[in-house]
Amino acid sequence: MTKTVYVGMSADLVHPGHLNILQKAAELGNVVVGLLTDQAIASYKRVPFMTFEQRKIVIENIKGVTQVIPQTTLDYVPNLEQLKPDYVVHGDDWKDGVQAKTRQRVIDALAQWGGKLVEVPYTQGISSTRLHAAMKEIGTTPDVRLRSLRRMLAAKPLVRFLDIHNALSGLIIENTKVNTPHGPQEFDGMWGSSLTDSTAKGKPDIEAVDVSSRMVTLNEVLEVTTKPIIYDGDTGGKTEHFVFTVKTLERLGVSAVIIEDKTGLKKNSLFGTDVEQTQDSVENFCAKIRAGKNAQATRDFMIIARIESLILGMGVDHAMQRAEAFLDAGADGIMIHSREKTPDEVFEFCKRYNQLENRKTLVAVPSSYNKVTEKELTEHGVNVVIYANQLLRSAYPAMIKTAESILTHSRSAEADADMMPIQQILELIPGGK
Ligand code: SPV
Ligand code: MG
Repeated sequence: MTKTVYVGMSADLVHPGHLNILQKAAELGNVVVGLLTDQAIASYKRVPFMTFEQRKIVIENIKGVTQVIPQTTLDYVPNLEQLKPDYVVHGDDWKDGVQAKTRQRVIDALAQWGGKLVEVPYTQGISSTRLHAAMKEIGTTPDVRLRSLRRMLAAKPLVRFLDIHNALSGLIIENTKVNTPHGPQEFDGMWGSSLTDSTAKGKPDIEAVDVSSRMVTLNEVLEVTTKPIIYDGDTGGKTEHFVFTVKTLERLGVSAVIIEDKTGLKKNSLFGTDVEQTQDSVENFCAKIRAGKNAQATRDFMIIARIESLILGMGVDHAMQRAEAFLDAGADGIMIHSREKTPDEVFEFCKRYNQLENRKTLVAVPSSYNKVTEKELTEHGVNVVIYANQLLRSAYPAMIKTAESILTHSRSAEADADMMPIQQILELIPGGK
């Protein structure tokens, strides 16, 4: 009887290494490919470049592949137990590191019905990781970048964004990675903060930096990064002006704009009731959302409505009424803002928001309630966490410290320990030599 052979793969950028594995598998019997879903891949690395459907079409058409089925977890066992294949074929490069556990579980599962793991020597000179790095260097297109936020939201329970105020901050978000006990971690995208962009330009956060100038910052960031951007649209300005902002953002490849339900001279929310801030009427703000949605050219661009009720001390009922109205007006999500030290009021909002029938993406900005963990946010249904200003807030004191040190010592030697070596700054941005 023909044997069944199982091969699990992501198959985002198919290369000769994949073909080699599939060929070896086909020599053993009928090949069933367990194609990892976007969710399964996103649980341990970046959302793939190609969608599941696109990857499936490619693999289905490779010689020797009998069938492609989804593998919805990194763990092979659920599919293996269903299929009870005679063989699993995999590259031999998963014996150590993050995949070692997955491998052992495959071996143990196969042992239950006498199946065997066959490991194919790793194809030298090519790897998905290197191809991914090369793709990043080539860059992205506005279209692909714009769409990437919706794809991430569909694939991950929570995505994390951090503030940009110039191209260098964008590069930090693009490239910073750490290894943790829960696997490698990185930021999913960039928050085009009005506070940090204005501050970096030496202006207050009162919509004094005009949209054209904000777009200059965005363009600088877009030139050197590939991750999605959520743009802080302040109040969105006049409805008649907001429609142009939407079109400009879309054309640039920005994924979403968040506008806040305030009117008149905007002041930063974190002042709370210490300054005069006026909330827009539900009617007006809904009209602005509708006009924005009508203006967009793609299906993928998102307009997220930010509710300032908690900032202004109006309570959760007030915020909920607005959430319902703004979603009805076509908003693609809600950002709930708070300047309390604890997440209690935000979580109370979350609980009620999650029960809405047309519930959409929920965004939280834990600047003041900063002890909250991403795990807690996820458990309360938050889909996007924005770290709204931490990069600029950490850069400024470091620079002041250096300036003071030079003044104090009449030379720079004492500041050296806090600075990057000259050689390192020369080589920080490749291509300078
Ligand atoms: C920003 O980053 O500009 C924001 C968030 O709008 S907050 O500063 O908290 O208002
Ligand atoms: Mg802002």
